[in-house]
Amino acid sequence: MSRTPLISIRDLCVDYITDAGDVRACDHVNFDIAPGEVFGLAGESGCGKSTVAFSLMRLHKPPAFITGGEVLFNGENILNYSDARMRDFRWREMSMVFQSAMNALNPVLTLEEQFCDVLMRHTKLTRKQAVKRAQGLLEIVDIHPSRLTDYPHQFSGGMRQRLVIAIALALNPKMIIMDEPTTALDVVVQREILQKIYALKEEFGFSILFITHDLSLMVEFSDRIGIMYSGELIEVAPSKQVLTNPYHPYTEGLGSSFPSLTGPKHQLTGIPGNPLNLLEIPTGCRFQARCAQVHEQCRTTQTVLRQIEPGRYSNCHLYDGEPIAQQKV
Ligand SMILES: Nc1ncnc2c1ncn2[C@@H]1O[C@H](COP(=O)(O)OP(=O)(O)OP(=O)(O)O)[C@@H](O)[C@H]1O
Ligand SMILES: [Mg+2]
Repeated sequence: MSRTPLISIRDLCVDYITDAGDVRACDHVNFDIAPGEVFGLAGESGCGKSTVAFSLMRLHKPPAFITGGEVLFNGENILNYSDARMRDFRWREMSMVFQSAMNALNPVLTLEEQFCDVLMRHTKLTRKQAVKRAQGLLEIVDIHPSRLTDYPHQFSGGMRQRLVIAIALALNPKMIIMDEPTTALDVVVQREILQKIYALKEEFGFSILFITHDLSLMVEFSDRIGIMYSGELIEVAPSKQVLTNPYHPYTEGLGSSFPSLTGPKHQLTGIPGNPLNLLEIPTGCRFQARCAQVHEQCRTTQTVLRQIEPGRYSNCHLYDGEPIAQQKV
């Protein structure tokens, strides 16, 4: 989608194989992220955002299995990496701030132990050099280096979040996945932390995959946004256009479920109905039961993400365009 991507996700499929049935939580997902780009991934709870995030780091665990596709990082498919190579790749090339980042720090170890553990496991730094680097990382996230010997409980929630971000930055990765990095923090602290992350991104040039339920924050901090629905990526657009000029009725519905901070006031309408049960995927479009613009083709013909115009992708039958990937099988 962009010309020189850092990462290209091609037809990625991830299945949860359970006794209740096999659920495809990520179905032929395709998108690219350019160096230095912030790509937001949005959609209702359960649509597959974290499944995509964990799979990109290959941190998914059974019953989740990657069943198809490629994750090309600088042109190499990391799904083919050995476990040892992947361990080296993780944190060094791509790191992640988890959805439950508040609990990501080990409560019984000082920060010094935790930073040195990451730094010394992945680099040839001596303990003394690792401590110095850790102090530098604390300064980057505006925490006084003298606090390196403290335990996580001695910090506020917002500070702990910044500590987790500092650990994600420790090895200068080229990409950071942030899955709800500021959930559970108040809105002022959320914005402060995101501004900090954005400034760091400008300074160090890493790319970000940014997942949040807060669409206004996402629009503010992302260059482009991908919208997921029931395991599929159904629209990709520049962030400034995705809510003001959506190319999918679901995106339109998402936009009308959120108050705008800066735009004109409008009635919040939301999206009628519930997300799909992934064990009962209908023929045709997955959104058909909730769509006000549903027509015959939506009930019979499967949807694929298509380029509608340069930079704009949608899988909705209302729009014409070229499929960007292989047809689904
Ligand atoms: N361990 C599991 N076993 C079976 N199904 C799972 C498992 N984990 C997740 N799923 C299913 O995969 C789908 C995608 O889940 P995922 O956590 O990726 O969603 P999400 O978009 O990140 O949601 P949220 O916004 O709530 O974090 C959901 O329908 C969920 O029920
Ligand atoms: Mg999630």
